Amino acid sequence: MGVFDEMLKEGESLFKNEIALDFSFQPKVVPYREAHQKQIASCVKPLFAERNGKNMLIYGKPGLGKTVATKHVLWELENYDEVDTFYVNCWQKNSSYKIILEMCEHFDYRLTHNKKTDELFRIVRDRFNKKGAVFVFDEVDKLEDLDVLYMVLEEIYRKSIVMVTNYKSWYDDLDTRLKSRLIAEVMEFQPYTFEELKGVLRERMQYAFVEGIWSEDAFNEVAQKAAELEDVRIGLYLLKEATTIAEDKSQRKVTLDDAREALAKLGHYTIHEESCLSDDEKQILDLVKADQMKIGELFKDYQDHGGKSAYKTFQRRIKKLEQSKFISVSKTEGGSEGNTTLIGLREVTKKLTEF
Ligand SMILES: Nc1ncnc2c1ncn2[C@@H]1O[C@H](COP(=O)(O)OP(=O)(O)OP(=O)(O)O)[C@@H](O)[C@H]1O
Ligand SMILES: [Mg+2]
Repeated sequence: MGVFDEMLKEGESLFKNEIALDFSFQPKVVPYREAHQKQIASCVKPLFAERNGKNMLIYGKPGLGKTVATKHVLWELENYDEVDTFYVNCWQKNSSYKIILEMCEHFDYRLTHNKKTDELFRIVRDRFNKKGAVFVFDEVDKLEDLDVLYMVLEEIYRKSIVMVTNYKSWYDDLDTRLKSRLIAEVMEFQPYTFEELKGVLRERMQYAFVEGIWSEDAFNEVAQKAAELEDVRIGLYLLKEATTIAEDKSQRKVTLDDAREALAKLGHYTIHEESCLSDDEKQILDLVKADQMKIGELFKDYQDHGGKSAYKTFQRRIKKLEQSKFISVSKTEGGSEGNTTLIGLREVTKKLTEF
């Protein structure tokens, strides 16, 4: 084969459909989450018999398919007239008022100007009450007030409320008054195994790329990193980056070198933006950014810089920063000082929005 056969020609691309790698792309199938979808479906099922549905709390670390699996169930429900579906991301709409405005939008109700939250809710309530409805509150822990949950619970007759979060503690810490009304079934999304992760990425590659452009060793390199960080998003990001790198070099194949180059670009990457952190959390993160430290030293440093939280609260903040993948927490055993916990900045910390 001549050198030019191995090169992409002008106007040729390795991508078949680049959009398939977007985080918000809704694939036709959601492998390895069938059991989770069935459980959601079983909570919703009573609505079809004109009874009240069950509520759910879904939790798990970022990038494990919670949103995509839940949305897939909603998408299937759209085939049925008996049940209405409402999805909201509480990161984007973080107050009851904003969510209820979104509900108005759902019904194409536009005369919202100058109306108060209660008044708007009464309008959507009457519409939701015409049949059963499934409400998904994604990233529910970002809600600044919980009024909308109470309203839906108390004023909508036949519904399932599905709450999705990274933090089960959000649910555990809820007011007992609300918890005893919700009586939610709790479901965890566990990290994928390496083989499952490869399965998810392979499925997506069929949509995204011209067949056969990825060499096996390059793919394994990417899958390995995503598995290590337990996050499908990292895998999608690397697939796109490495293919772009190969394409820029006019190659017809994505090689191990391209995958490694993409990995190097990963640099600092976080799933969530820092703007969502409280001032206290931000202060702790800034200290960690300056240096890796033992947890005790970090707490002292934090107090020296005016930090006011007690040690227990401080530990909770550390946990949240870890779960949101801003920092890494590692335990070292033995050594001259016995067991200790090291806090460092995560190797990967880049804004999602840059992708
Ligand atoms: N089983 C799967 N099948 C197909 N795509 C998947 C699967 N799991 C995850 N993905 C893809 O990985 C990305 C992250 O998944 P998703 O947004 O559902 O994660 P999440 O658990 O909701 O994370 P977060 O807690 O950060 O919101 C999405 O682009 C999604 O399409
Ligand atoms: Mg999600």
